[in-house]
Amino acid sequence: MTRRTPLAALAVLAVTSLAACGGGDADPAAYPEDDITIVVPFAAGGPTDTVTRLIAEPMAEELGQQIVVQNVEGAGGTVAAGQVADEDPDGYQVLMHHIGMSTAPALYPDLEYSPLEDFKTIGLVTEVPMTIVARKDFEPETLEELVTYVGENADTVTLANAGVGAASQLCGLLIEEAVGVDLTEVPYDGTGPALTDLVGGQVDFMCDQTTNTTGQILSGDIKGYAVTTPEPVEALPDLPTTAEAGLPEVEVSVWHGLYVPADTPDEVVEKLTDALAVALTDQNVIDQMADLGTTPVAEDQATPDAHTAKLEEQIDSWTPIIEEAGVTGE
Ligand code: MLT
Repeated sequence: MTRRTPLAALAVLAVTSLAACGGGDADPAAYPEDDITIVVPFAAGGPTDTVTRLIAEPMAEELGQQIVVQNVEGAGGTVAAGQVADEDPDGYQVLMHHIGMSTAPALYPDLEYSPLEDFKTIGLVTEVPMTIVARKDFEPETLEELVTYVGENADTVTLANAGVGAASQLCGLLIEEAVGVDLTEVPYDGTGPALTDLVGGQVDFMCDQTTNTTGQILSGDIKGYAVTTPEPVEALPDLPTTAEAGLPEVEVSVWHGLYVPADTPDEVVEKLTDALAVALTDQNVIDQMADLGTTPVAEDQATPDAHTAKLEEQIDSWTPIIEEAGVTGE
């Protein structure tokens, strides 16, 4: 079984500070004439980064230009989204974001961008199950034991996440609500570094996407309790679903999509959507995603219309939940 697959590829430059060129007066018909940057709103080595690098290589091949992956961490992904919203609308700065795009308006009342008005959608990419995982020597052996343990030791247990608005934080919130506890949360720039600390035993447990945890669960470096989807995950055959393990309230999966600034010409959007479609049918991408517990979205979901519909539906469903919970990132 593949672990964290090395994704180095000639066409993809893994940097954290390089920005690709691209002028505001670029000709859409000639696009792309230079490197394209995909901005990832969480730390390198985490699940969003992994999915981005997986699709970047075939997209770059299809577009005939290099794709640079740039990690811009902070405030649950809102720093990166705000940065891309302000970029020239020429298709050279693309945002990869996940479910956090739909929760940000409710979590951050002073948000300086509108997910629906300041971006054009390119298409959905994948929907990733989450796992509830712990350091390998954490006392509880099952999800049922975890619930009891967390309830009895709420003042000492630590819960890692990637900040307010991160998928890991939303999933953690569902656990806290289900168990009726308020735990000490330890925020990171992404669940990449959080997982490193979990493996090192510095934090007790967390929720994280299968794209980040599958390898470590299978190798025994961390303990896996359950997957947070209604169906089991083929790559993790020993893990029950949260519903099977007695915590049906914790059901969440993490959808991802690509965005460009709102005034980007439709011709450019179409080229990016076409390149995404090629990436999502690439057998290597399909196989690597399968090893990491996920699949590319169906062809009809990798489109701007399907993506916008998902974003609208998710904003509508998450906003009241967040408002009722009284959670805020500010
Ligand atoms: C990451 O890429 O680090 C994660 O997607 C963060 C999260 O949302 O939990």
